[in-house]
Amino acid sequence: MTEARVTLLRSVDVGVTDLAQARRFYSEVWLLTEVAEDDGVVRLAGTGPIHHVLTLRESPRPGVLRVELGASDAAAVDALHRRIMEAGRPVSGPPARLARPGGGYGFSFQDPEGRNFSIVAEAADGDRPGGASPLAPVKLSHVNLNSADNETSFAFMRDVLGFRLSDQTSKFRFIRCNADHHSLVLGFNEEATLNHIAFELPDLEALMLGIGRMRDHGYPSEWGPGRHGPGNNAFAYFVGPEELPLEYTAEMMQVDDGYPVGMPERWTWPKGRVDHWGLTPGPSARVVRTQRLFRFPPEGYRLAL
Ligand SMILES: [Fe+2]
Repeated sequence: MTEARVTLLRSVDVGVTDLAQARRFYSEVWLLTEVAEDDGVVRLAGTGPIHHVLTLRESPRPGVLRVELGASDAAAVDALHRRIMEAGRPVSGPPARLARPGGGYGFSFQDPEGRNFSIVAEAADGDRPGGASPLAPVKLSHVNLNSADNETSFAFMRDVLGFRLSDQTSKFRFIRCNADHHSLVLGFNEEATLNHIAFELPDLEALMLGIGRMRDHGYPSEWGPGRHGPGNNAFAYFVGPEELPLEYTAEMMQVDDGYPVGMPERWTWPKGRVDHWGLTPGPSARVVRTQRLFRFPPEGYRLAL
């Protein structure tokens, strides 16, 4: 029987006002690889098997347009579509075969806080041809979403999409859809906005070199290097082109169903610390500001996949 739940975080759709600048940055500095371009839509891959992990679209305003999730096959997509309809959430239409580069079968919808998602299966994922940089991102790691109604969003992600809670702090719920400790994070906030988008690097050395490369190109680390508590992943945060809050991360903890959920009392740092290593004083005011800037556009789930 098909397990009707989300099993993957696939990609993000990002709107940019300056497509040429964004293309240059995400390929030459962030080190993704451009795999397709048509009609002002550019798709970039990591070194992992997912066809593309970032879609750039020329838009009147910058921001995150949609988050794309994955399921095991078309039957799982159909079942998730039914459940999302039953939950009363707006959908783009019935699941369909996609004409886009990488193909697949899927649909889009809006979550209870108006954020846009899609679910896609049976895309042309596979091994990439060799030659990619050993410093390049493997995949999208996680998307952190500020939530004004964390309880409702969490219940939807858990009961309708099949996410599981890995850990909870006073600020965030970390939820998973596979062995990665978290693929989505839901914050306890005043407004539903983007907190940040994180890409996974192959190892700690690639993370450290990534911090240097970003600095060389005028994007200094705004927080980190450090190592988070929940997920135990190493991190560095940046403010990317058009102020998009970005994270490079590595060494995300792998968990299974036996992982004990940690609650806020488990996740406290000694006084004066904000990470495991204790090297970093905490995020810059600049990155904190950008972690509240971007709302999801109300019609974003209707965009062509
Ligand atoms: Fe993160």
